[in-house]
Formats: sequence, C-alpha cells, structure tokens
Amino acid sequence: EHVPQNILVTGGCGFIGTNFVHMVAEEHPETHVTVLDKLSYAGNPENLAGLDRGQIDLVVGDICDAAMLDEVVPGHDAIVNFAAESHNDNSIADPGPFVETNIVGTYQLLEAVRKYDVRYHHVSTDEVYGDMALEDRRRFEPDDPYRPSSPYSSTKAASDLLVRAWCRTYGIRATISNSSNNYGPYQHVEKFVPRTITNILTGRRPKLYGMGRNVRDWIHVEDHVHALWDILVRGRIGETYLVGARCEMSNAEVLGCILRLMGEPEDAYDKVAERPGHDVRYAIDPSKFEEELGWKPVHTDFEAGMRSTIAWYREHELWWKPVKEQTERRYEAMG
Ligand code: NAD
Ligand code: DAU
Repeated sequence: EHVPQNILVTGGCGFIGTNFVHMVAEEHPETHVTVLDKLSYAGNPENLAGLDRGQIDLVVGDICDAAMLDEVVPGHDAIVNFAAESHNDNSIADPGPFVETNIVGTYQLLEAVRKYDVRYHHVSTDEVYGDMALEDRRRFEPDDPYRPSSPYSSTKAASDLLVRAWCRTYGIRATISNSSNNYGPYQHVEKFVPRTITNILTGRRPKLYGMGRNVRDWIHVEDHVHALWDILVRGRIGETYLVGARCEMSNAEVLGCILRLMGEPEDAYDKVAERPGHDVRYAIDPSKFEEELGWKPVHTDFEAGMRSTIAWYREHELWWKPVKEQTERRYEAMG
C-alpha cells in the first residue's frame, strides 16, 4: 500500500473529479491535492469552495499544454486523470474537442508521467467495450475486446490503449478503471439524471430518447471515488479494473423512479428522437475488482441514492440554474 502525499487531479472541477477531491479532503487530510482544470463549460471552480486551500490548490490549465505540464507535474507523486470531454451527445454534434482532450491530452499526460516518473491512474468508462444485447446474460470482463460506438467512447478507448502501450513499452506505473454510469451531486445538467430532475424543477417535461429500453448500469459517484482511492493506493500496476455496482436499469425505469420520487404523473414526459448509434446496454462484471481490492458499494439502494440526489439539486439551484437555459438551448440546436 502506497498512500500518495501530493496528487495532481486533472479535471478536478468536473462531476466525478469534484467528488474525488471532496472525498480526499474529508478522509485523507494528509494528502495534498493540486487540481488542474481547463474550466471548460463542464468545470466549475465554485465546486472547490469551502475546501482548505492549504490542502487543495487549483491551477487553471489544459492537459494538452506540454510546457505547462513541465511546470506543474514535477513534485507530484501521482496523477489521477478525470479531464475529458464526457458527453456523448456533444461528441455526435462536434467530435473535434473529444479527439483533442481525450486523446492528445492523455498523450501529453503520459509523456509527462514518463519524463517525471509519476504514478498515473486513468479514469475511463465501460463504454469502451461497446454495447451488449438486451437478451445476452453476460457482462463485460476486463479482457474483452474494445468495440466503442460513439465519437466519445472511441476517443476514451484510444486513450486507454495509449495508457496500456506506455505501460508495456516504457514501463510507466499506470492503472486504468472503467466505470459504469455515475449519478449523484455536482453532475452537469446535460446528463440524463440531472437533466430530468432540473427539467421538472423548471417546469419542462423530461425527454426520453427512443423507446427508453436502453439499459445503463448505475453507480453512485461516492462509491466510484472510494473505488478510485483503493486502486490508487493498492491497485496492481498495469491492471484494468471494472468498477460497477450491479445496478442495470432501463432509461424508462430510471425516469419512472425520478417522476415518482418528485410526485409527478408517470406519463409526464416527452418521447424524443433516438440518439444516433445509441448503445443498447452497458453491463460490466466488477467481480475481479471486488475480490482483489475488497471494495464494495455502499449505495446499493438506487431509490434512496436517487432521493438524496434529487434533494441535492433542490438545495443547489444556484449551482445549476445559471447553465440550465444554455444547456437546453444547445439541445434544441442539436435537433
Ligand atoms: P465532466 O465533463 O463533468 O468533467 C470534466 C472536467 O474536465 C471538467 O472540469 C472540465 O473543465 C475538465 N477538462 C475538460 N477538458 C480539459 C482539458 N483539456 N484540460 C484540463 N481540464 C479539462 O466529466 P465527468 O462526468 O466527471 O467524467 C470524468 C471522467 O470520468 C471522464 O474521463 C469520463 O470519461 C469518465 N467517466 C464518467 C462517467 C460518468 O458517468 N460521468 C462514467 C465512467 C467514466
Ligand atoms: O457508461 C458510462 C458513461 O455514462 C460515461 O462514460 C459518460 O461520460 C456519461 O456521460 C454516461 O454516458 P451516457 O451516454 O450513458 O449518459 P447520458 O446521461 O448522456 O444518457 C444516459 C441514457 O439516457 C442514454 O441511454 C441516453 C438517455 N437519455 C439522455 C438524455 C440526456 C435520455 O433518454 N434523455 C435525455 O434527456
């Protein structure tokens, strides 16, 4: 077990990165964190408000900027990389930034890791495996082939392959985790769960793509960030870990749960156009990860996790209200 003293958290002002930094602040006060974030539309520096600035620093910068990495990376003993363009619908409308940040950005981080011999953890997604048929009883395993479908997931797959190659060829000390769909506080209102909640809170009808039969495998973000800490301190170099909570649900079921918890009629939503290339089902088998590192999810009751997530959005209107209108306008422009 190796507890890092000085971590660089790239993308630490986004959804999962913010939850990771808060967890470190609360549970590992001996570890210093430098957040490196470009503050794209998805990054909000307010997310770090209230944290001890002696422990948590913010550097505004782009992971594609090699000269800046030469300044910032030395002195850190580990990097956890959350920085990415993360939304499938945006990648379909405009894939360029995904190639840039997800592929070129990862490449620049890996080169810095090689140069300064820093431990690296790469945060990735179950979407790299592509989708699984609804009637198939299997779940993806770490060694399954990569078959990504969208511009987003193909750039994440490319970044994972770079990490694997740098590990084997240059012997960098890296691990990869591929997690399933996260939900919880600080998620951008472009994503399905917070979009649905904040649509209801602003008098808009939630939108369900296609028939709503697509299945996602849900994990509470707090369970994910604890898994990431375990991998960072106890994971085996070169390994891929699948982080999921065995919670497969169709989009229609998730929507039904939110409508019920918010006291809305069960038919108070609109069916809208299907997402092009829409993955049918994600499902990963976390057994290897659980057995090896002894991790277990705490938020095993999806409805309870969703109730507290809804409460968080009710209580943090000032956090999401300023970007709600523009997000919905962007959806309208996508058609
Ligand atoms: P997010 O979009 O909420 O946050 C991304 C953060 O990265 C933002 O703060 C943004 O400003 C920053 N960023 C973007 N481009 C950057 C650049 N070039 N340089 C520096 N910073 C940059 O994303 P998220 O949902 O928190 O996802 C974090 C990571 O986890 C991503 O790699 C994503 O692929 C992966 N992931 C997400 C989920 C999920 O359900 N959200 C599931 C599995 C894996
Ligand atoms: O599987 C992990 C992935 O989960 C991460 O890698 C991505 O970063 C993250 O964004 C998420 O990808 P999805 O495409 O699954 O998430 P999204 O929230 O965009 O959509 C979830 C499902 O809900 C998907 O099948 C599309 C559907 N959907 C989405 C929106 C925004 C709707 O039906 N209505 C909507 O309004």
